[in-house]
Amino acid sequence: MSSDAFFDAVKSRRTYYALSSESPVPDSRIHELVNTAITHVPSSFNSQSTRVVVLLNEEHKKLWGDIVTPAVKAVAPPEAWPTSEKKLEGFKAAYGTILFYEEPKDVAKLQEAYPLYADKFPQWSEHTNAMHQFVLWTALEKEGFGANLQHYNPLIDEKIAATWKVPANWSLKAQLVFGKPAGDTYPKTFKPLEERVFVHGAK
Ligand SMILES: Cc1cc2nc3c(=O)[nH]c(=O)nc-3n(C[C@H](O)[C@H](O)[C@H](O)COP(=O)(O)O)c2cc1C
Repeated sequence: MSSDAFFDAVKSRRTYYALSSESPVPDSRIHELVNTAITHVPSSFNSQSTRVVVLLNEEHKKLWGDIVTPAVKAVAPPEAWPTSEKKLEGFKAAYGTILFYEEPKDVAKLQEAYPLYADKFPQWSEHTNAMHQFVLWTALEKEGFGANLQHYNPLIDEKIAATWKVPANWSLKAQLVFGKPAGDTYPKTFKPLEERVFVHGAK
């Protein structure tokens, strides 16, 4: 028993921007990974407040081509648009997107049940959501995908809700774009561990 296999997965997860619209696995496998993450990733007070919507193939293209691109174009300064457009074309060229949501009703229930922590639950809901994002990002890359994490919410929330019948009260937190890697990751630097890790009482 060791955490080596787990940390191999943690270490190999990177941000991939160059992605193609191929998939190394059947769509049923993607569904399975999502079900496993949604079932087993923890949530604050076991609220299970996270929701996901998975868009594959043409639905993924619809998200980036028909929803995000016009929404960003409408607000982008003209001089910034060519760069944004290129970036968005890159996301559209991928295979799928997982939309990560929180259900505010689950958070409100906790606030009512535990008034002492009422002001903390929104923050813990964000933490809960991020844990799901990390697990699925890492899992997809273990399956042979590359992925990157985006945040075009709240600009795109209403159109997405209308297109895929997402409850209007769900709060969109992040978009995980994935596809077959079509290029390398960029070099990553690391701050000295001495600045970031402090252990006391080790024997
Ligand atoms: C909470 C969080 C938010 C992020 N938001 C974005 C984002 O909006 N757009 C983006 O391109 N990358 C985003 N990233 C990716 C980071 O820039 C990236 O993970 C970091 O530079 C480390 O590189 P790596 O993922 O290759 O290890 C985000 C990452 C995290 C953890």
